[in-house]
Amino acid sequence: MDCFRIEGGRALHGTVRAAGSKNAALPLLAATLLPVGSSRLRGVPQLRDLLSMRDLLVDLGATASQAEEGVWEISCPTEGPTEAPYEVVRKMRASVAVLGPLLARRGRARVSLPGGCVIGVRPIDLHLKGLAALGAEIRVEHGTVVAEAPPGGLRGGQVYLASRWGSTVLGTANVMLAAVLARGTTVIDAAAQEPEILALADFLNSCGAQVYGAGGPRIVIDGVDELKGVDAWVPADRIEVGTLLLAGAATCGDVTVEGCAPEELTVLLDLFTQSGVPFEAGEGHLRVMPWTDRPRALDISCRPYPGLPTDLQAQWMAFCTQAEGLAMITDTVYPDRFMHVAELNRLGAHIRREGGTALVVGPTQLSGAPVLASDLRASAALVIAGLVAEGVTEVRRVYHLDRGYERLEDKLELLGGVVRRELDESGA
Ligand code: EPZ
Repeated sequence: MDCFRIEGGRALHGTVRAAGSKNAALPLLAATLLPVGSSRLRGVPQLRDLLSMRDLLVDLGATASQAEEGVWEISCPTEGPTEAPYEVVRKMRASVAVLGPLLARRGRARVSLPGGCVIGVRPIDLHLKGLAALGAEIRVEHGTVVAEAPPGGLRGGQVYLASRWGSTVLGTANVMLAAVLARGTTVIDAAAQEPEILALADFLNSCGAQVYGAGGPRIVIDGVDELKGVDAWVPADRIEVGTLLLAGAATCGDVTVEGCAPEELTVLLDLFTQSGVPFEAGEGHLRVMPWTDRPRALDISCRPYPGLPTDLQAQWMAFCTQAEGLAMITDTVYPDRFMHVAELNRLGAHIRREGGTALVVGPTQLSGAPVLASDLRASAALVIAGLVAEGVTEVRRVYHLDRGYERLEDKLELLGGVVRRELDESGA
């Protein structure tokens, strides 16, 4: 098991390039089950979750090859297995996104229920509601979703796809992936508006689908008979970009991230403006600059897009340890996503959790210590805090980090951070 050994107390400075988006690539990989002929995805980051999804596609009969680093060629036959077993889905919730394409192309699917994870319960009831609206017969037995398309295949339907927690990103993707080959028109109301949904719609339309309104609350899909494989790019990872900018701001550094879409992070830029973190936004790049007056603490609430992403909540919290004043942080998407609080406090932060809200008193002088990563974005928060802390911080169980960040240690070293990946002999 690896850990990161970080020598903190240095302001980051320099320029790095954004990687491809994990959360865009996962539904795009599921979508390659649909077209006849092979699809080529470019800019695919080397991440464990994506390798897991590729292995699942191969288990489902696809052929997958990597022409060069980051370029994946995938072809999937019409007939083949239709089961995503528990061992796969347990490790990666996004595997549930094969439900829709398997129903659409093969008429049936057996996919294990994903179970929860440390950030929340994460049900898939809305996925199943959406697929049932397309005529699928769905039952759950022994922890597995068993879904059958009606004779003649799925047919267009209408569904309102939000719970009290808001819209569902993967649920919206799943229903889109089923509807593109359904007979007739499908309307998805309260659709997720995340950029990853827009990227999926663009891919599907390039394959010959007819998807309208993606990126807004209502998506209309006119089913077609067949899709053809295409060559497509995975968009930049907006969460990785936000993470790197927050690391720059937390260390009072000067960090530029190239190859990104500033328009996808306007909420973070607005918070930087309110807080007093200097930044520049240009064509395809974002830059945070050193602050002279300490940034002001803000009260924020994480919400579905275009709100502050829950996937930046932990990283924002690490930044707040260096801001002036009391910062209130609420996560309306995953109210329990606060595993990072106790570990940040081990580094000297003053954070108190009250239900679905955390209160951060800043600024605090952080000092290095061994800490345990618990989930992907909590790990990123601990790395940011380690970069700020005086002395050495060891972030253990960085396999969590490797799920969503491609060689983060290399990028931070490029920015002047002292971050070494080491074998963790502690047995943590
Ligand atoms: C996506 O997960 C992301 N993962 C998550 O990123 C992200 O945190 C989440 O969206 C919210 O933005 C991928 O895209 C692979 P949801 P997803 O369905 O789609 C409730 C990361 O760190 N809900 O949007 O699985 C659910 O409980 C990961 O990169 C239902 O009630 O999340 C949650 O409160 C973590 N019923 C809210 O909706 C459902 O059927 C949002 O969940 C589905 C979801």
